Amino acid sequence: MSADRTTLSVGSTPDGSRRAADRKQETMQTVLILLGPPGAGKGTQAKRLIAETGRPQISTGDMLRDAVRRHTELGRKAKGIMSAGQLVPDDLMEGIVRERLEQSDCRDGYILDGFPRTLSQAEFLRTLTDGAQVVVVNIQVDEAELVKRLSGRRVCPEDGQIYNVHYSPPRQAGKCDRCGSQLVQRPDDREEVIAERLSVYRRQTAPLIEYYKQRGLYHELNGDRGVGEIFEDLKKILNSR
Ligand code: AP5
Repeated sequence: MSADRTTLSVGSTPDGSRRAADRKQETMQTVLILLGPPGAGKGTQAKRLIAETGRPQISTGDMLRDAVRRHTELGRKAKGIMSAGQLVPDDLMEGIVRERLEQSDCRDGYILDGFPRTLSQAEFLRTLTDGAQVVVVNIQVDEAELVKRLSGRRVCPEDGQIYNVHYSPPRQAGKCDRCGSQLVQRPDDREEVIAERLSVYRRQTAPLIEYYKQRGLYHELNGDRGVGEIFEDLKKILNSR
């Protein structure tokens, strides 16, 4: 087990059945919130952190895309909203996040990628993380670079592996390195939708920066660097707590 893994492994108990909202101080749960605009690299860094920390990545975007694929009621409600670059209503999001955080793999902590995205969601999360150690890291990237990253992103529909035609192309064009599946472009990675997502981010999510600064939980990283370099700094933040 690496030093970083130890850092995030603070205080485990065999009691996996308790609700997240009921968890008490004796289990120091570690919650990492990855903030940042669309395309900042939250998902890319979260996936690296899973291997490093043993904690699950809770990606609300992935959960919603899965619901869309499975044609669930949530998926039917979310599909049009997502492909228009808007946010899914808070009450729906809060319901699925609550349910996910009650799973036993979240008992000792988790990595949030894409949640919270509004002040209401942040307040909701606060009620679920009472007594937990919360670390917020905002990955900052210029908008021109975000557009390039998002329009160049390709994903594997089978294993979720993320590629970029500009920065990290697959070995064989259009195919996943791991499983050989045909890579796809997300419907919301079309340029007109990207512009809307960035605008929604500025209006609804950027205010969370001030929210977390005021609570002394906020850290910031320059995301306009190599993935490995950002990851090293992320680990330093986690280890410095
Ligand atoms: P979601 O899936 O969360 O999308 P997002 O926040 O817009 O973030 P992205 O996944 O686009 O970017 P990322 O920061 O994870 O970057 P990535 O690592 O992939 O949400 C989608 C939609 O679902 C929302 O629009 C909304 O409708 C709905 N939704 C989700 N959560 C919600 C919530 N809480 N409330 C309401 N609605 C919600 O990287 C991007 C690309 O850049 C990749 O190609 C990658 O390879 C590349 N890259 C990454 N890092 C680097 C680097 N350092 N250098 C060069 N390239 C890099």
